[in-house]
Amino acid sequence: MIKLSDVSLIFGEGTPDRVEALNNISFQLNHGDFVTVIGSNGAGKSSLFNAVSGLYPPTSGVISKNKVDITRWPEYKRAAFIGRVFQDPLMGTAGNMSVQDNLTIASYKGMKKLKISLNKQKKNEFRELLSQLEMGLEDRISDNVGQLSGGQRQALTMLMMVLSSPDLVLLDEHTAALDPRNAEKVLELTSRFYSNYKLTVMMVTHNMKMALDFGNRLIMMDRGEIILEAEGKEKSRLTVDELVKRFHDIRGMSLTNDETLLS
Ligand SMILES: Nc1ncnc2c1ncn2[C@@H]1O[C@H](COP(=O)(O)OP(=O)(O)OP(=O)(O)O)[C@@H](O)[C@H]1O
Ligand SMILES: [Mg+2]
Repeated sequence: MIKLSDVSLIFGEGTPDRVEALNNISFQLNHGDFVTVIGSNGAGKSSLFNAVSGLYPPTSGVISKNKVDITRWPEYKRAAFIGRVFQDPLMGTAGNMSVQDNLTIASYKGMKKLKISLNKQKKNEFRELLSQLEMGLEDRISDNVGQLSGGQRQALTMLMMVLSSPDLVLLDEHTAALDPRNAEKVLELTSRFYSNYKLTVMMVTHNMKMALDFGNRLIMMDRGEIILEAEGKEKSRLTVDELVKRFHDIRGMSLTNDETLLS
């Protein structure tokens, strides 16, 4: 569905601060894939998402969607089919607006596909959708989103993202800022939405175990490159120890200094 061919993303070209955030990445994402993305700080994980979402168009290479070249499409045009959730729970929702108004905006975006009605029924529909989150938000539909906890807000962001019927969902450490209980809830929601709404997902995590437990494919990035890929049975057989060993074999150095990645 999404294909990257020899994509590079260079910052600070011609300066001493030159960084190759992405180095000749080629990667194909199929409809229904759930790809977990791991790698140390600065490996290029967010840059990969930035290139796909159009925030930073690649320096070279081609990005296509269903064989249409979208390399130079601006971010707003891609936002029509990409849902992105960031680490910061404040980013995906408008804090000074009510739960209902936030959902209304999200449903406009996806209206064509989901046929969300805009009549009196809407409130009930939203209540029903919110009850899926199992956080009691169905009773707080008129509250300002700013009054919600980080976990509730991130769950609402996930729901809004799903309402916009994205073809591709990019989750960039979307549970990293939450306490363990809320992180688990949002992760459970991620799995449920993936199955129920037949999403295509890429999820960055610093937690190797999480990367192994979720999804059908895994990629490991380092210094702007995809250094390891596993999918299907091969992925399900992988262990954290095996991943660490493979990193060592590929890079000739140890991962032991990366505590978060090993957590
Ligand atoms: N806008 C930018 N300007 C300059 N350099 C950048 C920019 N964005 C990313 N980089 C650099 O590109 C490299 C890859 O960064 P990126 O944010 O993709 O890493 P990451 O794998 O997401 O790391 P983290 O786990 O810390 O989030 C880093 O060296 C970073 O400093
Ligand atoms: Mg990042």
